Amino acid sequence: MATILVTGGAGYIGSHTCIALLAADYEVIVLDNLSNSSPEALQRVQKIAGKSLQFIEGDIRDSRVLDQIFAEYAIDAVIHFAGLKAVGESQQIPLTYFDHNISGSINLVQAMQRAGVFRLVFSSSATVYGDAHPSPLNENMPTAMPNNNYGYTKLVVEQMLEKLAASDERWSFALLRYFNPVGAHPTGHIGEDPQGIPNNLMPYITQVAVGKREKLSIFGNDYDTPDGTGVRDYIHVVDLANAHVCALKNRLQQQGCRAWNIGTGRGISVLEIKNSFEQINGVTIAFEFAPRRAGDIATCFADNARAIAELGWQPQYQLEDMLKHSWNWQKQNPQGYR
Ligand code: NAD
Ligand code: UD1
Repeated sequence: MATILVTGGAGYIGSHTCIALLAADYEVIVLDNLSNSSPEALQRVQKIAGKSLQFIEGDIRDSRVLDQIFAEYAIDAVIHFAGLKAVGESQQIPLTYFDHNISGSINLVQAMQRAGVFRLVFSSSATVYGDAHPSPLNENMPTAMPNNNYGYTKLVVEQMLEKLAASDERWSFALLRYFNPVGAHPTGHIGEDPQGIPNNLMPYITQVAVGKREKLSIFGNDYDTPDGTGVRDYIHVVDLANAHVCALKNRLQQQGCRAWNIGTGRGISVLEIKNSFEQINGVTIAFEFAPRRAGDIATCFADNARAIAELGWQPQYQLEDMLKHSWNWQKQNPQGYR
């Protein structure tokens, strides 16, 4: 079976994807600098999968480490999660974001070229559509400049990979445009473990539920949406992980650069999330309405027809599972991996 290098494999989406890869019998090599993750996550991945993987602590910006990995292991393809993802922070320290996300990706692809490895699945984001189009968003819509530096790094890397694929037909890139990943592994043993105050909705809600935060602020109730709160496309992280295995299989067969939306195709409002979380998990989430958050748009959900048709992928989990599994993880691990 093929051997896959997973950069950022100790993180939230990476750890779930490692389980899916091991279950599909791939050999897994993880490279992670642990800047936003814990080695404990990989211990638990191996326990859940009942198989082992190789872990190398190191940075994608370090060519020496990359060359060593490609020399030591016969890597067939790379899944590239490593990078920084906090939108607000990317406005404060843009150069750090350009360094990890853009320079890091260039460094990785250069090492791949030196090693003769030409297949890569890249973690992109729905943010590359900007706010130019109405939802559902489909891959034929032109990308637009995101309104933050994090989103900008995703757009730059996407465009760089497209140009690279056009220059040399050996390259094969999957650009997976994630919508809003939530949920956790059904065992509750791995999940999202944000450092500090969570930026994203679901970990904020679970931290209110577990008593770590006082109340949820709902950013805006005057949007042009059915209940006035923001509408997003929440996708279970295990479905997202499986999409990587499907994209990998596709890229092991095909050349070129291709983008796929990974979402459920269903838009859900912040209030619906809060209310359903309370109902399904039997907890109360204290909340207040607060002003809109800068940079937010009213509605964002996917047209996922291309991924379903071309990758043989299909989301399996319902909203109820996402809410149950997020809470299950948080309840069992109130301090995350610490
Ligand atoms: P995460 O922070 O949990 O995982 C990223 C991992 O990369 C971490 O383990 C971190 O330690 C590691 N890392 C960071 N910089 C590194 C470097 N220079 N060298 C080596 N390792 C490094 O984040 P995640 O939610 O799992 O996201 C994974 C990828 O998906 C990221 O590229 C992110 O931008 C992208 N993405 C995430 C979301 C989301 O909502 N979570 C949405 C769209 C896209
Ligand atoms: C955000 C990022 C996006 C990134 C994605 C995944 C912004 C502007 N966008 O998307 O680039 O790809 O995370 O990391 O930050 N909400 C609240 N209260 C909260 C938190 C969120 O009401 O405490 C609302 C938001 O206004 C939004 C929805 O919940 O309507 C989802 O927010 P969030 O989880 O942060 O994801 P996005 O904003 O969609």
